[in-house]
Amino acid sequence: MNSLLIKNGTVVTASDIQDADVYIEGEKVHTVGTDLQDKATRVIDAKGCFLFPGGIDAHTHMELPFMGTHASDDFFTGTLAGLHGGTTTIIDFAIQTQGDSLQSALNTWHEKAKGKAVGDYAFHVAVTDFNENTKKEIKSLVENQGVTSFKTFMAYKGALMLDDRQIIELMREVKKYGGMVTTHAENGDLVDVLVTENRNKGNLSPEFHPLSRPPIVEAEATGRIIDIAFEGSHPLYIVHMTCEEALNRVREATKRNQKVFVETCVQYLLLDDSVYAEADFGGAKYVMSPPLRKKKDQAALWKGITQNLIEVVATDHCPFCWDQKKMGLKDFSKIPNGAPGIENRMELMFSEGVLKNRLDIHKFVEVTSTKPAKIFGLFPKKGTIAVGADADIVIFDPDKKHTMSAKTHHMNCDYSAYEGWQVTGKCRTTILRGTVAIDEGKAFIGKGFGKYLPRKKPGEFNV
Ligand code: URP
Ligand code: ZN
Ligand code: ZN
Repeated sequence: MNSLLIKNGTVVTASDIQDADVYIEGEKVHTVGTDLQDKATRVIDAKGCFLFPGGIDAHTHMELPFMGTHASDDFFTGTLAGLHGGTTTIIDFAIQTQGDSLQSALNTWHEKAKGKAVGDYAFHVAVTDFNENTKKEIKSLVENQGVTSFKTFMAYKGALMLDDRQIIELMREVKKYGGMVTTHAENGDLVDVLVTENRNKGNLSPEFHPLSRPPIVEAEATGRIIDIAFEGSHPLYIVHMTCEEALNRVREATKRNQKVFVETCVQYLLLDDSVYAEADFGGAKYVMSPPLRKKKDQAALWKGITQNLIEVVATDHCPFCWDQKKMGLKDFSKIPNGAPGIENRMELMFSEGVLKNRLDIHKFVEVTSTKPAKIFGLFPKKGTIAVGADADIVIFDPDKKHTMSAKTHHMNCDYSAYEGWQVTGKCRTTILRGTVAIDEGKAFIGKGFGKYLPRKKPGEFNV
């Protein structure tokens, strides 16, 4: 059996830190301890480096068909880029086409991923058409196919959006089987009206994207979905939260002892809406929904992490190349929504988060790996470095300085949202299930190395 000994590193988990060696046999961590004897097939010296659990990005869209085009990363390029950036597992969204079944969406996404993904992957199913037929499919997805979370869109009217009644009925059905509903919280009708008003006034440049989706659009939907969940005591996870107003709705809910799981994404912590004014249509690079906000929102989100209101930092990785973005050159509402980020998340969170004292190193591990694993039923196989867990480990050099750029990244996108950013800390080696996948920027795994991860129901939701 293959074995690997990582010597002299500092092992960091969500709760502990220790100078230790890690001995891996096959795909699993066998021993964590000091002065482990060198009986492995391969030994790696990790002196001066941290060993982090492999990152888990709970929100990605590989090859998503969207707004007349497709996200530019497929499961090969996207998960490979993830591995370069220390993310070993993704949870992608199998999105139902209205009129089709949930099963057909899941089958389609399995087809996209199988034989291509190099990182491990699981699926949420996004329900865009809830009816008597869809309802019957929930049980099998949760109980037999490892899909325990169901996404709802409160926006993208006419394409992905569910109305409140559908969401309420979906929540009731999902709860019967121990699953959880997750929500993109924006008021779709309000967005529609604001977009139409701006277009009618001739306001067609990217700056009008955030102005058509102001914070109240998100805060209203956030408050509404929280109330709906409260009524039926349903677990709820809100994806990609961006602003103080929405976070305050969560804070309010805690006063009636309601637990709401909240995710934000690295771009909402680090980029602000001034970028929409970039010359030559440059703002299009950052057109995503909800949009980037103000610096005061970034501050609120960072604090929300330390206050345990926000438990997951994902990416909503949904890249489109420049030519695709240009579909909206004459009309901001036609710019495909989304941006690249899977490769940058861990290094940015370390450099901008840990090194700038916005969060400690354990919180870093928690929000990038452990909590997504717990909330979405992958823990303790994923999300930690412990005996018996999958040996998904990032050997991270905390001192290495580098510059982010589309010229050097591995995402299939011809721009970077962080072009020219100087960061400190780099993923030196990424190990997935005991195999060195990436070392010093070189890949050692082939297409199809990634495995599908059927997920458990979270045993209890107060994780
Ligand atoms: O702009 C975004 N976020 N694109 C991807 C789809 C979604 O809303 O998550
Ligand atoms: Zn969304
Ligand atoms: Zn998304």
